[in-house]
Amino acid sequence: MQDIYLLLAENNRLETEHLILRPVTLADAPDIYEIGSNPNIIKYVSYAIHQDLEDTRRSIANHFMRHPLGKYGIILKKNQRLVGTIDLMIKSQNVAEIGYQLNEKFHRQGIMTEAAGKIVQLSFEKLKMKRVFATCLTSNIASSGVMKKIGMTQEGTLRGQLKKGNYFYDMDVYSLLSDEYKNKNIS
Ligand SMILES: CC(C)(COP(=O)(O)OP(=O)(O)OC[C@H]1O[C@@H](n2cnc3c(N)ncnc32)[C@H](O)[C@@H]1OP(=O)(O)O)[C@@H](O)C(=O)NCCC(=O)NCCS
Repeated sequence: MQDIYLLLAENNRLETEHLILRPVTLADAPDIYEIGSNPNIIKYVSYAIHQDLEDTRRSIANHFMRHPLGKYGIILKKNQRLVGTIDLMIKSQNVAEIGYQLNEKFHRQGIMTEAAGKIVQLSFEKLKMKRVFATCLTSNIASSGVMKKIGMTQEGTLRGQLKKGNYFYDMDVYSLLSDEYKNKNIS
């Protein structure tokens, strides 16, 4: 049987037309802080807002560096800036989940569609996944927009799934199956 983590290790640096996807390091702290300290981003993700750069450095060490395989910083080729991150979380030999975030200054330029498309390609063509899924708050039309653009289909709603403050929010689940990926010729 193929080893998923060996494949992820071999593919810890990926490239698309406009982007490099590569591991996150402590040197990325200022760029990650810009994302993690923005309330407009935080309202859609599960982690707490970064209060200062030290918070960000802790988060990089604990989230991105402790288990780095499948976790990528998104670098814009044209200015070498880290503008976002994307994670491929391995759930089983056949199933993986995608999660992502992008600096608000770079929204709506197709960046996450390009990054997520590459991760989907890796998932099906190299890791031989059967199912790739993602979840987002039902209100997050930007994120569901990315999911639809990479060919995913909405399959249901997880009611009261995410607690933020004193509220429980619904999350929608989107997925793409290997046969659909092949047939739609998405890459
Ligand atoms: C979700 C997010 C990563 C989208 O990244 P992005 O690079 O701006 O998305 P794209 O430019 O690839 O957009 C893809 C599609 O999504 C939809 N979309 C994106 N932003 C949108 C917005 N603000 N309003 C409505 N639709 C939007 C559009 O259909 C868009 O395609 P189009 O521009 O051709 O019409 C970004 O908005 C973000 O980081 N948000 C905060 C954190 C977050 O929500 N993370 C995901 C948690 S599940």
